[in-house]
Amino acid sequence: MSLLWETIQKEEDYPIFRLTYLSKPVKPFTDADLDDIESKSVEANNTRDVTGLLIVNGDRILQILEGREDAVRELYAKIEADSRHTVIKQVCAVEDEVRLLLTWSMVVRGLTGIPPHFLEQFAQVYDELLHAEPQSEISIDHVDLFKGIALFETLPPQA
Ligand SMILES: Cc1cc2nc3c(=O)[nH]c(=O)nc-3n(C[C@H](O)[C@H](O)[C@H](O)COP(=O)(O)O)c2cc1C
Repeated sequence: MSLLWETIQKEEDYPIFRLTYLSKPVKPFTDADLDDIESKSVEANNTRDVTGLLIVNGDRILQILEGREDAVRELYAKIEADSRHTVIKQVCAVEDEVRLLLTWSMVVRGLTGIPPHFLEQFAQVYDELLHAEPQSEISIDHVDLFKGIALFETLPPQA
């Protein structure tokens, strides 16, 4: 078994609790706001063994948090109380055996400079989740889309 495979399949010592929510900003987030949230979250989440991603596109905010259930719930309570945004819907809260966002203590992505097809897909999925039954699990396809978006700006520019 390769080292990479072992890393991806890393067994957790406890069940992973995954929580996804949608919110909207009270006033539009600037790049400086996002940098501030990211810089504080990376260290704080690392300490809590929480991983996740946060995507912000205008009025649409989506965050996924993963980790030990009590750690995720405690962090979510703080985030929910944050006056910079209003949580509008908890989309899913489920237990899983694996982390989907294994190495990301928190990746924060505004969508400036992202190709239009990503913007459209994100808006479409966000609106779908907004209107879906609460507590439905987040699909792997959606998580893959969010990961693609979150990683986009870290790719080298096209020649
Ligand atoms: C949209 C959004 C996402 C956030 N995500 C995180 C996060 O993943 N981790 C974190 O520690 N703080 C996050 N924060 C900041 C928290 O709401 C809060 O300010 C932070 O936990 C500091 O709280 P404390 O000063 O009571 O410790 C987020 C804030 C917003 C508005």
